[in-house]
Amino acid sequence: MNFYLLFKSLHLIAVISWMAGLLYLPRIFVYHSEASHHSQKQVFKTMERKLYNYIMMPAMLLSWLFGVLLIYSLGFDIFKEFWMQIKIVSVLILTHYHFMLGRYLQDFKTDNNRKSSRFFRIINEVPTIILIVVVFVVVFKPLI
Ligand code: HEM
Repeated sequence: MNFYLLFKSLHLIAVISWMAGLLYLPRIFVYHSEASHHSQKQVFKTMERKLYNYIMMPAMLLSWLFGVLLIYSLGFDIFKEFWMQIKIVSVLILTHYHFMLGRYLQDFKTDNNRKSSRFFRIINEVPTIILIVVVFVVVFKPLI
């Protein structure tokens, strides 16, 4: 059994699921911040809680777990490589962004959101930019 390839496949599955949530949750926040009816808000709260707790949180933990197992398989010397340094900074920003969304989710849960829908539209671009950076960096790594 080639554990390196197994970890890489599982890493990619987890990363795709995590990214799906990171891109979709702020979209729900956009609609939630514009909603005025109580029943609408309740639906958004359920969608947000389930997405964050049952998809994003496990996917984030599994992305890290299999990412760290890949680092272990390849040897810690990969931290000397420039592509890995860019990647690690990018995924730390992404992880910080993940927990920031968790704080906004709590604000919505208690009907204390003060941010505008425009704010959520803008921050929605953060994971898109990081996704582009990370994919280019891991694909072009032999040249970096
Ligand atoms: C959560 C922390 C993460 C860690 C510790 C991590 C670490 C790693 C490592 C060590 C590899 C193996 C590279 C190689 O085989 O040379 C890898 C592969 C990969 N990672 Fe991550 N990663 C993380 C998150 C992400 C994220 C968020 C994305 C996408 C947005 C991503 C996309 C990829 C891709 C596409 C590959 C395959 C590269 C290839 O086959 O050459 N990773 N990751």
